[in-house]
Amino acid sequence: MKQKIDELLSQANEKIKMVADTKALYDLKVFFLGKQGEVTALMKELGKLPKEERPEWGQKINALKKQISELIDNQHKELELKELNQQIESEKLDLTLPGPQIEQGSRHPLSKVTEEIVEILSRIGFSVRSGPMIEKDWYNFEALNIPKDHPARDMQDTFYITEDHVLRTHTSPIQIHTMENEKPPIRILAPGSVFRCDSDISHSPNFYQIEALVVDQKVSMADLKGTISYFVKEFFGEEIKTRFRPSFFPFTEPSAEVDCSCPICKGKGCRTCKDTGWVEIGGSGLVNPKVFDYVKIDSKQWQGYAFGFGIERMAMIKYGIDDIRLFNENHIDFLKQFQ
Ligand code: DAH
Repeated sequence: MKQKIDELLSQANEKIKMVADTKALYDLKVFFLGKQGEVTALMKELGKLPKEERPEWGQKINALKKQISELIDNQHKELELKELNQQIESEKLDLTLPGPQIEQGSRHPLSKVTEEIVEILSRIGFSVRSGPMIEKDWYNFEALNIPKDHPARDMQDTFYITEDHVLRTHTSPIQIHTMENEKPPIRILAPGSVFRCDSDISHSPNFYQIEALVVDQKVSMADLKGTISYFVKEFFGEEIKTRFRPSFFPFTEPSAEVDCSCPICKGKGCRTCKDTGWVEIGGSGLVNPKVFDYVKIDSKQWQGYAFGFGIERMAMIKYGIDDIRLFNENHIDFLKQFQ
């Protein structure tokens, strides 16, 4: 019995110290102390000894059990510490690695262009007004001298909300709101979202316009041309020329379409200007006296001019963008170019 105890103790000493991980240590615990283990087997041998010897050997086996338990516990603590250190080592942060790149946002190109237009025109006394996107038929059409059944309504494919309410098809109704609410002289700008039932590479169902209205005394076509020429040079560049083509809008008389020499090819002819050397930016004209009648401004005393430009169009021309849909698709690579 003594020999067996000594043997087991030296075996335990040796094996437990050599164990490399907690899993193997657990296996050893089972081997020595488990139900089928060596020490348990020794206990069972006690029964074979003479009765008077049993307490003494029983105590010795218990002492052996305790010693092996302690050996295992100590080794367990050591291994746990070792494994924790290994884990810390393997998960160590390399603080010298560069961090993940955080993309920085930027103003949308249409916001930038709008801000630039407003800034240029505010230098010569224009200030900004706004109006609702859902308009009464009266503001969007009627008061702009576009009566029901007038063929000019066909120019704008309208989204009707009710029989009497539309998503505004242009920013011109803001002219009416302003003239209803303010007394001349008036010198305002109105950028805003407009809606038409139209969609292809140069038309979007929702796009932006910027409206300008001046009401004053002795206003003529010369003032309109001077203001637009100034604006075009400031926005597109000193070398860009402006051209007015006779046109028709019910709310202006006379009316003119505004073209500028193509800023991309400088008038030589390219894809942007469809080889004409000119690009159209919007409509303009002198305020039709009939519009003044609707808002009860005396057209004998006051005259006015107005113009309305497409903001996407101006951005497309300025930056050589060939598809209007790019503005709304939110592709980072597209938007980044305007940072
Ligand atoms: N509202 C017109 C459109 O969307 C553009 C326009 C033309 C605005 C002439 C004006 C103007 O202020 O005078 O087609």
